[in-house]
This record gives sequence, C-alpha cells and structure tokens, in this order.
Amino acid sequence: MGLTTVVTGIGELVTNEPALGPTPLGLVPDAALVVEDGRVVWVGPARETPQADRRIDVGGRAVLPGFVDSHAHLVFAGDRAAEFEARMAGTPYDGGGIASTVRATRAASDDELRASLARLVAEMRAQGTTTVEVKSGYGLTVDDEARTLRLAREVTPETTFLGAHVVPAEYAGRVDAYVELVAGPMLAACAPSARWIDVFCEPASPHAFDGDAARAVLTAGRAAGLGLRVHANQLSAGPGVRLAVELGAASADHCTHLTDADVDALAGGGTVATLLPGVEFSTRSPYPDARRLLDAGATVALATDCNPGSCFTSSMPFCIALAVREMGLAPAEAVWAATAGGAAALRRTDVGRLAVGTRADLAVLDAPTYRHLAYRPGVPLARALEV
Ligand code: NIG
Ligand code: FE
Repeated sequence: MGLTTVVTGIGELVTNEPALGPTPLGLVPDAALVVEDGRVVWVGPARETPQADRRIDVGGRAVLPGFVDSHAHLVFAGDRAAEFEARMAGTPYDGGGIASTVRATRAASDDELRASLARLVAEMRAQGTTTVEVKSGYGLTVDDEARTLRLAREVTPETTFLGAHVVPAEYAGRVDAYVELVAGPMLAACAPSARWIDVFCEPASPHAFDGDAARAVLTAGRAAGLGLRVHANQLSAGPGVRLAVELGAASADHCTHLTDADVDALAGGGTVATLLPGVEFSTRSPYPDARRLLDAGATVALATDCNPGSCFTSSMPFCIALAVREMGLAPAEAVWAATAGGAAALRRTDVGRLAVGTRADLAVLDAPTYRHLAYRPGVPLARALEV
C-alpha cells in the first residue's frame, strides 16, 4: 500500500460518471477524492471522507478530470507567424506552409526538438491538460519520422505516425512512390514508437492525399498493429470521414465540411468526431456543425490541434470557450467533449473521468464551477493538480 492523499474542499467535482451524480458530467457538490499510487481509490461527498495520510485542500474550487487533448502536432522547429499574418489578411490555408516546418524540423537537432516539445507539454499541463496525443508529420523521411516519434514517446504513450501529412518536396509529382514509402519502409521504422497511424485525407489540398492513398496508408498501418485516426473533411466534404468510419478508425478529426451521409456515418459508427475549433478560429473558416453531430447521436471530442500552422494554441479552455460561443455546445457538453470525449477518441477508459480505479489526473479551476471555462474566456483558470 502506498501513501494515500485526500483532495478535499472541492466545491464542485466533475466525474463524467453518471452513477456518481446528476447529468452526464456526474456532478458531485462539496466533494472529496482519495488518491493512492496515482489512482483514484475513493470519491464521494466530503462529509463521508475516509482517513488518509496527506490532505490537499483546494478551497472550494471546481475540480474535473484533466483535459484529454487527443490531437496535437508538437514535434517541430521553426515559426509560421508570417503565414498567420498573411492569412488574417486574406490568404487561405491549404497546407502548403507545412513544407517550411518540414525544412526547419529536419535541420533541428534532437535536443532542440526535445526542448521545444517539453515546453509545449508544460504549457498544456499548466492549462489543465493531463493526456496529450502527439503526431509526427514534419520529418517525412524514414529517419526523421522515426526520430520525431521516438521523441514524442518520451512524453506520451499516445503517439501517432503521420508520414502521410503532405507529399514532401523531393517527391513532388510522385505521390504514388511516396505512398509506397510511407506504407512500407517508413511505417516499419515508425511502428515500434507509435500507437496510431493518421493521414491528411484532403483531395481539395494540392499537398495532401486523396481517398485511395489514405486507404492504402491506413490499411497498411492497421496490418502493422496500429489504431487508425484520420484528418478528415477539413477543407472540403471529401471522402475522409466515411473512410474513417468504414475502416473503424477511433477518430475522424476536423469534420469542418460534412454531408448528410458523413453525419449519418459518424452517428451510426464507432468513430468519434473530433472537432478542432481553434483551427477554424486561426484559419478564418466556418465552424463545424457540432449541434447537428450531437443531435444525430455522434460522440464528439474537442482538441487543440496545436501545431505551428493551422492553429498554434495549446489551450483546451480556449477550445471549450469557442465550442460554446461559436458551435452552440452547452458548457457541460463542451467540458465533456474535452475530457471524456477525448478519452473516447483515444479509446481510453482510465482517463477523462474520475471514479475508483481511474488515473488520478485532476484539473483544478480558480473558479467555483466548470461553467467558468466558457464564461471567463482567456482567463487562466485551469491547471493540472499535482497530487
Ligand atoms: O491538423 N491539416 C493538416 N495538418 C495540420 C496542420 C499542420 C500545419 O499547418 O503545420 C492540421 O490542421
Ligand atoms: Fe492536425
């Protein structure tokens, strides 16, 4: 038996366990929680708190499961602030800027990449994120993809091989040869450090991959034992979402442009719709129809997509505020999507909720209720609680 710690003085606890309290958030007012060896061993009303070795009093603040950011690109070098500035002046986003990050990332040392990755992960944790998925996709050679995934593995088990991010300059006009490389030797070199494989399926981008190429990469990844995720329907209502559902992907990400058939597929399949509203904000694009997805019965997750191009925010609270203000989610729906929804998108049951046996990954708010995450946009209320 390890040391037990009771977290007490919780004004409002979000558990995401309907058995523990009302609404899908499983709210417990005036709550306490006991932690042992990084796991929750007891949760309930403060008046019933059992004895513990240590006590952390959070002074009436709200506590929730740490955010699960299920989509981020954190291993890169360089800066694209000028591209952002041009976009705000009217230049549309088409993925072409990824090439400049690829050049900078290839030129960076392991230690440089490691340092910037660590800074971003710390920035996320300081804002309440306790699980993060990290993709490769700025190396695009066998060695550079493998090394970025090894670096990602140092900070998270949720690593994703995204060799099919864009066609690199040296393969211009030879997409088929690049897809063969990705699905063959690059996959073989990357699979040992990856849990997932992803592809930027976007026929509307001259840089990304069509449905046939995406299928070839995803089926090879599945055969190598990886789970599937898809960058789908970001710039157009392409084939990505339906391909993701057909192949049993854990998540279809972006979902900015959806047809009726896409919504039906997401509502009827086992694929989470991961919405990334920071991207629409930072590319001046229309927001996805989140209400329609929820009303149709789809499972919705929220994530940052933190990357140097389409959206350079590390803030899940910012995404929650956008989801409420711009996509019509109720604050409770947005908080669920940023915690339990992200866990579903990573097929994890040990994070994104708080119950006996889950990881004790806690976020604490300098606020009395989860509603303040949307009510007080831009205010740094959330942080990961060290227990
Ligand atoms: O999810 N869409 C493709 N990939 C990233 C952007 C990467 C970049 O612009 O550097 C995204 O938006
Ligand atoms: Fe992305």
